[in-house]
Amino acid sequence: MRALSGVQPSGKIHIGNYFGAIRQYVELQHEHDGFFFIANYHALTSIRDGEELHRQTLELAADYLALGLDPQKATIFVQSDVPEVTELTWILSTLTPMGLLERCHAYKDKVTQGLSADHGLFAYPVLMAADILIYDSHLVPVGQDQKQHVEVTRDIAERFNNTYGQTLVLPEPLILEDTAVIVGVDGRKMSKSYDNTICIFDPEKQVRKRIMSIVTDSTPVEDPKDPEKCSVYALYSLFADDEQRAQMSQRYIRGGMGYGEAKKELFGQFMEYFAEARKRREELAQDMGYVMTVLKEGASRAREVAQQTMLRVRKACGVYMG
Ligand code: ADP
Ligand code: TRP
Repeated sequence: MRALSGVQPSGKIHIGNYFGAIRQYVELQHEHDGFFFIANYHALTSIRDGEELHRQTLELAADYLALGLDPQKATIFVQSDVPEVTELTWILSTLTPMGLLERCHAYKDKVTQGLSADHGLFAYPVLMAADILIYDSHLVPVGQDQKQHVEVTRDIAERFNNTYGQTLVLPEPLILEDTAVIVGVDGRKMSKSYDNTICIFDPEKQVRKRIMSIVTDSTPVEDPKDPEKCSVYALYSLFADDEQRAQMSQRYIRGGMGYGEAKKELFGQFMEYFAEARKRREELAQDMGYVMTVLKEGASRAREVAQQTMLRVRKACGVYMG
């Protein structure tokens, strides 16, 4: 079974990305044929500075490796190193109803905010469908916000198969209930676009500041507090084991503990949990040549699979000329 997913290199990686997606990649690489890429074509819809996009692409690759993706086990690559995916995007777009894309949230949200959207943002889910379908992916590990896009992918693949005969594999999203939506420091979904993230590789001081800024209610220190209503507790739960979680919950309910204290504990857990990854990330920063080699090897493996799918697709829809 092939498991495939990607993250856009559009900002620093945060704990929503990790618990919602990347941690699943790391687990899946042991049992499945893992394909994990950096969605730089997608990021073109928001980053309009070539140097910055190039830099962020390499940085995200180093983040993947530091967090435990293993090039011996998984295929790690950059989306644009397999340009065939843009050809598939075009072919799929000829079968994609406008209505399907108009319902997609990335585009809809932008239009609702009164912002003008470009064609790239509108067509974004078709490129994502091509990413998934070109590698015959069975499983797509993502956070809740990407579920709709995997459903669109299935819909487009079915249309292709119904029109041209059985050609494309229908993928399933893999969403873990407990980590489907990680909360940000302001209580909304953690997201680069809300500036409410806790970034995994930020300097220690900045991480502390971010954690101390988590919004809480104004219950006085001595009063009992409801852990289920608190973002600090929700985030703490990601790092703690069952016993630590139960103890923290008791301290909330008992009263006498201020939110500041809970935040300090969360900070401690964060630093411990990511200590090894942060160390590895620093080492990789000194060896970006290695990161480039991993990406090149990954690209050549991925491209081989993509070319085989494209041959099937081209033949099926009649654009293969021999
Ligand atoms: P962002 O919203 O910060 O721009 P991306 O859209 O690049 O994040 O998301 C990359 C991956 O991380 C996706 O699979 C997405 O579902 C997951 N993800 C992002 N934010 C969260 C979150 N707050 N909770 C759970 N998963 C998330
Ligand atoms: N759209 C995804 C995001 O913003 C990134 C992505 C692009 C992706 N292509 C993909 C995720 C294919 C899974 C599979 O997070």
